[in-house]
Amino acid sequence: MANVFYIMGVSGVGKSTIGKLLSKALEIPFFDGDDYHPEANVKKMSDGEPLNDDDRWGWLQALNQLAKTQLNATGCIIACSALKKDYRNILSKDIAKDVKWIHLSGTFELISERLQNRKDHFMPPALLKSQFDTLETPLEALELNIQLPPKTIISKIMDTLKNKSEFGLFGLGVMGKSLCRNLAQNGFKISMYNRHVEGTEENVAINFKNEHNELASALPFDNLKSFVNSLQQPRKIMLMVNAGPIVDAVIEDLIPFLSEGDVIIDGGNSHYKKTKARHDYLKSKGINFIGVGVSGGEEGALKGPSIMPGGNMDAYKQVQAFLEAIAAKDKNDLPCCAYIGKDGSGHFVKMVHNGIEYVEMQLLAEVFGILKSMGHNPDEIASILETWKASANSYLLEITIDILRKKENNDWLINKIVDKAGNKGTGNWTTIATAELGMPSTMIASSLFARYTSFYKAERVAASKLFKNDTQNEIDLELDAILNAYQFARIINHHQGFKLISQASNTYDWSLNLSTIASIWTNGCIIKSDLMEELIPILKDTDTLITNKSIANHINHLKPSASKVISVCILNSIPISCLSESINFFNGYSVANSTASIIQAQRDYFGAHTYQRTDDASGGFHHTEW
Ligand code: 6PG
Repeated sequence: MANVFYIMGVSGVGKSTIGKLLSKALEIPFFDGDDYHPEANVKKMSDGEPLNDDDRWGWLQALNQLAKTQLNATGCIIACSALKKDYRNILSKDIAKDVKWIHLSGTFELISERLQNRKDHFMPPALLKSQFDTLETPLEALELNIQLPPKTIISKIMDTLKNKSEFGLFGLGVMGKSLCRNLAQNGFKISMYNRHVEGTEENVAINFKNEHNELASALPFDNLKSFVNSLQQPRKIMLMVNAGPIVDAVIEDLIPFLSEGDVIIDGGNSHYKKTKARHDYLKSKGINFIGVGVSGGEEGALKGPSIMPGGNMDAYKQVQAFLEAIAAKDKNDLPCCAYIGKDGSGHFVKMVHNGIEYVEMQLLAEVFGILKSMGHNPDEIASILETWKASANSYLLEITIDILRKKENNDWLINKIVDKAGNKGTGNWTTIATAELGMPSTMIASSLFARYTSFYKAERVAASKLFKNDTQNEIDLELDAILNAYQFARIINHHQGFKLISQASNTYDWSLNLSTIASIWTNGCIIKSDLMEELIPILKDTDTLITNKSIANHINHLKPSASKVISVCILNSIPISCLSESINFFNGYSVANSTASIIQAQRDYFGAHTYQRTDDASGGFHHTEW
């Protein structure tokens, strides 16, 4: 990869000498910035007058242009004093990610002595003072003291280029560790950081490094400053910490060590509105922030997750190569990682992914409940589900089969797991978002509330003793009908999930591509499935799955089974809140004349909220004195 190396520092530090030597070592051209000064500037300096910002402006632009041109070829080395941060911004405009700064520094005394011995230069020693006054020491540069012999300076630069890491991973929990190994396996040189907590988190990074051969060249840290300094600039730091206030705390800890143009990537399940706020906050400090949804759990993170990055496109480009390399690959061998859109859209899409995930999980739990009520044991249920793979395969179906087969001491483990479902909040957020956006993703809400209902174990136990159960002795259901009901509900789930994304895209002006989102959900993530593959072409043309012709045909075929299964379950007191919501939603959605007319009349009756009339084509609003 080509780079532009700016060798900077006040006049007299030996920028050209080092530049030429480095040019030899790296085999790329060297340019002396002084050669690009206009006549007027040279004259001014020769007359002993310091240059002002206006004098420098055109010169810095010219050097930026030179750098851009060279970047398209081999890259280059440019010697330029680059004293102020503003100057450096001009020099690196549009190419910040490819620019590396080398700052040659020395004491005033040493440099002025050198200048006095210099014959062939237009800069009079008296100007040195003004240069020192102007200098804003760069934090982003590799700083080298000119007392060192040039050869040593060159070997230090080469050393840094070789030894500094390309990518930093902050937070070595389960996901962070897996991503580190994935990055290292893909040949990236990484730095890894985990905090030091006496007694509980000690030597986490170094111990982790020592456990895995692929981490031989990874650099481990528990000191934040050293971690940040170990990274090539602009730095790329991925945070794998718990969503919530801890993300803000980590950002605050990092800021003092970061430089303009660095990129922070939040790979946790952060709330999309927070992601936008963090993006804006860091932008005001010149730091890029990308909110990245990562799905796939521990194994996905290690072998290839599905990645949903959102934020500034230019910032994304800087980390694209890393994220695409570690992502899962779809069936066309393309990465399951695609730029989603601006702001917090990556995290929004990941949040809806989790909402869909909640429903897919709940539906399988309900299917388990039905089959169990029919008298099947977990092994038998696993065998039934095994046959479903042919037409309804998904990652969640596969793991459910494994779960059902797992035994401990001759009994199924599932029988020993307390029936209270936990959650980490993303289903809750999706439910809030769907309500906020006015979009009826009712199955996501149902699956969330099913988890909440499960949590009241003691009350459930008490209630189970209080009420008569209508369960018939034998539940008469065809296995194929249950499969059809399951497939019907999954289609409605995906319809609602994508519709929610589409609504958010319109509301927030994100221009999201639903088909691309479906593609990156075909591998690596928790909701990967054969159905997701089928949706890719359909979502190219519509955001409303239910009304797509082939989906509609499918629904027509499945619906009678769904109605039957759901009715039988209700008659037998089998809880199926998500399955039944699928048909309730569908019936409400597919009826031409709904009962909302009653709601409108009631609203007008008690609150004069007005209503529209079927016999008034203008759509005007009317009120009746009821
Ligand atoms: C994924 C998962 C993951 C999620 C957990 C926990 O895509 O890898 O969605 O991100 O955090 O599954 O979610 P709950 O605890 O809310 O079930």
